Amino acid sequence: MKLVLSLFASFALAPLATAEVTYTKEISRLFQEKCQGCHRAGDIAPFALDSYEAAKTWGTDIQRVVKDRIMPPWKPTDAHGKFKNDFGLTEDERQMLLDWFTAGAPEGDPADMPEAQPETGEWQLGEPDAVIRMPELYNVPRRKDIYRCFVVPAGFDEDVWVKAVQVVPGNRQVAHHVILYIDETGKSAELDAKDEEPGYECFGGPGQGVQLSAGSMLGGWVPGSRQALLPDGVGLLLPKGARIIIQMHYFPAGKEYADQTKVGLYLAKPEEKLNKRMVFLPVVNTSFRIPAGAKDQAVNAAFPMPAGNIYMVVPHMHLLGKKIEVNHTNFLGRPISTLIKIDDWDFNWQGFYSFVEPVRMNNLDQLRVTCRFDNSADNPKNPSNPLKEVRWGEGTEDEMCLAFMGVTLDNQSLIDLIKLQKHNNRR
Ligand code: HEC
Repeated sequence: MKLVLSLFASFALAPLATAEVTYTKEISRLFQEKCQGCHRAGDIAPFALDSYEAAKTWGTDIQRVVKDRIMPPWKPTDAHGKFKNDFGLTEDERQMLLDWFTAGAPEGDPADMPEAQPETGEWQLGEPDAVIRMPELYNVPRRKDIYRCFVVPAGFDEDVWVKAVQVVPGNRQVAHHVILYIDETGKSAELDAKDEEPGYECFGGPGQGVQLSAGSMLGGWVPGSRQALLPDGVGLLLPKGARIIIQMHYFPAGKEYADQTKVGLYLAKPEEKLNKRMVFLPVVNTSFRIPAGAKDQAVNAAFPMPAGNIYMVVPHMHLLGKKIEVNHTNFLGRPISTLIKIDDWDFNWQGFYSFVEPVRMNNLDQLRVTCRFDNSADNPKNPSNPLKEVRWGEGTEDEMCLAFMGVTLDNQSLIDLIKLQKHNNRR
């Protein structure tokens, strides 16, 4: 059917000389949708892509990075899972952009230009209900990759329900990604106290000894990400007295920068009736070994899941990771669908991927994660020299193979039900 339609479309359009692709009609809109999340003034990308002049100036580079699929840095292959705020190029869009350059980059009629993207201001969802920030300015040293955790009391003396978080990096020139954890134990504050500088070092998680549970993931930020509220009735529990760990990955260029990142919390309104707690269940293998020199080592994990809905998937590996995919099967292992598939994993572009439509899990369905690692000297990102056997761990030279699944379960714990009820009774 698709083929017939596109044949028809090209047949219908071919005779019209005016059907040429122009900057003002197609390309400007494509840049708005797929590039300006980062390529705009003050954001992380090194230049704005918001004018015909910019398209011409950067033309050679754009063609190279689009041809090589380096830009836009959207990692999931489009064969699987439909995600919100997808900024990947479809094959048609890619080809259209390349063809447009080949055709001499025609500008077109200025009257065809779209309205400029509205300035959302700092907070994409409006003023947050609460803002927490790193306790003090941190002077980011000039080293290339810095992973640091900063601890902030969330400041609530009762349980609250979070609908969305937005991270506003204090300095977009150096912030590469941010992951937020909830710490109910106080362990993070101990680590913080032991380190003289603000915060403490951490790499693949919230720090040595800070326990991760289904309730300890809060959210994150990667460049270009846009925020969405959780669906009606669904909330993420931020327990009273908890601390929030802001894990920063800094990527400073040639000089020292100061950063004080802040986080906006959007809470469930008293009038919203909540009936589901979202938690992050890890599908994880912690007992693998990747031999020194192994070029393509697979690591798998499969877990039977309880019935419920999947809203989000957050794949995670470190620097040896090459590919990762998460598959949904029935209890016999028969495939149902591929939830996400990333063929060129890049630690620098980790995402929190939200499904457009939640994925339904039946009781005892399985989720399987498959990671592939390159622990050879051919992997330019391999942090170990000499090569060594690698296992699970928090350090830069350790590895992880997991996917956090943001889910709601049909059968919730009694404690969660009571907490949800408590919110609902506040009305
Ligand atoms: C999610 C953020 C993001 C999006 C979306 C994005 N870029 Fe980029 N782009 C970057 C960053 C950051 C850099 C700087 C280099 C780096 O860190 O990889 C960059 C660099 C570039 C460069 C210079 C590359 C070089 O090697 O000199 C080009 C050209 C480019 N982007 C084009 C595009 C185009 C075209 C689009 C849309 C189709 C796009 N980008 C979408 C973040 C983004």
